[in-house]
Amino acid sequence: MPIVKASELAYCRFQLPDLELAEQFLVDFGLMRADEQDGKRYYRGTDPHPYCYVVEEGEERFLGFGLYAKSREDLNIVAAATDATIEELSAPGGGVCVRLKEPNGYDIDLVYGIRAAEPIEVPRQPLNSAARPFARTNEFYRLNPDGPTPVRRLAHVVIATPQVGETVNWFKETLGLISSDDVVAGPEKDLFGSFMRVDEGDKFVDHHSVFVISHPTSGLQHVSFEVQDLDAVFRDHHYLKSLGRYEHLWGIGRHLLGSQVFDYWSNPFGYSHEHWADTDRLNADVPSNVCAVEEGLINQWGDAVTSKFRQGVKV
Ligand SMILES: [Fe+2]
Repeated sequence: MPIVKASELAYCRFQLPDLELAEQFLVDFGLMRADEQDGKRYYRGTDPHPYCYVVEEGEERFLGFGLYAKSREDLNIVAAATDATIEELSAPGGGVCVRLKEPNGYDIDLVYGIRAAEPIEVPRQPLNSAARPFARTNEFYRLNPDGPTPVRRLAHVVIATPQVGETVNWFKETLGLISSDDVVAGPEKDLFGSFMRVDEGDKFVDHHSVFVISHPTSGLQHVSFEVQDLDAVFRDHHYLKSLGRYEHLWGIGRHLLGSQVFDYWSNPFGYSHEHWADTDRLNADVPSNVCAVEEGLINQWGDAVTSKFRQGVKV
């Protein structure tokens, strides 16, 4: 049995040397500044979480990420089991936090009691398709031509590590994550990576919230954000391209594992950021699948994985 079963992702945290440059990318990418407190800047999407991205000034480093606990009691249980302390969060929406370390040294925060913010409405029109030919009638399809489409939420984090087994076990044993797809390699079928989702019982959740993948060094492989819909993935690809400021890493395509329509961009510091729409949503009834590493990065359509995407691991 795991110590607790965590709920969805709360935020990711970065330390970066130029807050203005960091912000310009985040705003161009579709996140919005929510607050600034004690030298930290907080960014949000359109869902009701008051923030999902935290940046503080300093040497370039991915600091870690947070997940919501299902109850205040779960924080007490984790704190007691790991000898950690429960601290007040001095951040938008308040709340409390237990800060843990996963095997690669990244901070993993289990948080509770962060007050929700008002969601931000983004008007979207229905799409006509073969199955639903009259979803939109007597109405012309028009997208807002100005600026990026607001991002919905932080969706997953991918940790690269030479210690795959240990890292996967840590997330399973400490936070109750369960495998959606275990990726194996070689004649011994060694674990090469694991796409893990949170265990919410009957409730449907994203195919993965955390993906741990084998790599010679530890680092962040990418952080990933759900956008409004498929149009937002495509439109914002062209929007980011039109700015001429950022390096495109891979996409657009549709993943096999997780099934998202994706697009990857590097921020100015070399950290990979993903936009996606449409993922598989599973509840805890679906057993874990095992697949070969050759299948792991296959697209259902779109260009093959690029070397700059694969090599883009940064501490
Ligand atoms: Fe991803």
